[in-house]
Amino acid sequence: MTPILSARAVTKTFAVGRQGWRRKTIQAVDAVDLHVHEGETLAIVGESGSGKSTLARILLGLSAPTCGDVLFRGQITTALTRHDRHVFRREIQPVFQDPAASLNPRMRIETTLAHVFLRHRLATPQTLRAITIKQLEAVGLVPGDHYLGRYPHELSGGQQQRVAIARALAVQPKLLIADEPLSSLDMSVQARVLDLLIELRRRFHLGLVLISHDLNVVETIADRVAVMYLGKIVETGATAEVMRSPRHAYTRTLLNARLIADPRLARRRRTEEGG
Ligand SMILES: Nc1ncnc2c1ncn2[C@@H]1O[C@H](COP(=O)(O)OP(=O)(O)OP(=O)(O)O)[C@@H](O)[C@H]1O
Ligand SMILES: [Mg+2]
Repeated sequence: MTPILSARAVTKTFAVGRQGWRRKTIQAVDAVDLHVHEGETLAIVGESGSGKSTLARILLGLSAPTCGDVLFRGQITTALTRHDRHVFRREIQPVFQDPAASLNPRMRIETTLAHVFLRHRLATPQTLRAITIKQLEAVGLVPGDHYLGRYPHELSGGQQQRVAIARALAVQPKLLIADEPLSSLDMSVQARVLDLLIELRRRFHLGLVLISHDLNVVETIADRVAVMYLGKIVETGATAEVMRSPRHAYTRTLLNARLIADPRLARRRRTEEGG
């Protein structure tokens, strides 16, 4: 089956000033091959600066790769017809880390969502209000009409992220690309937004590319994991497999870091290893 989205030898180079007369560049993403199938959850993990967000922006079509291609249902995205580009933009939706920054602060929630519904002709002026309320309730903002007139700053971080998710889902996407969608939220809220993502995924058969540094989250939600290190994908495989027997030294370091952070897990691991 053709993946819904793939990267083929994607490289992104940034110019970062000069060193003498030489231009200094960094290779933020380095010859990455990746594919995501419909309905699948792929986690991308890796230390800070390893190129995860850069890759996500390229997959979303928000940034052009220096070399390589992104393919949407097997078609190179830069060569899509107008119609297919429209489908691409609709079916692949972003969720960002900071919901406050991704919502227009001067727009009421109702207007933010209404724009999307009207632009994509998913509602008429007559049905708009009812559809907007339904959308808010789908992401757990109940009763929906309670939130229509509010501005983003009148909502909590978790509620803002729910609105951002509601907006992404409004166009009935097939795949969400979520770049650390939980990490700006309080711990207690994180679990609830994660549950929401799991529920939405099931209900709408949504695919998900989840960038996260939280391996517990990854273990809970991801079918497959890709591990990035210095712009490259150094390991990819089924989540349980990668967690159980990481092949790459960097992945082992990542897992060990988690063990240190979680003493309970460390003890369990030591016991399992018979040590
Ligand atoms: N617009 C830019 N101009 C120059 N360098 C950039 C730019 N965007 C990212 N970089 C650099 O590219 C590398 C990868 O950055 P990126 O944001 O993709 O990492 P990341 O894995 O998302 O990190 P984090 O976990 O901290 O979010 C970093 O070295 C970063 O400094
Ligand atoms: Mg990032």
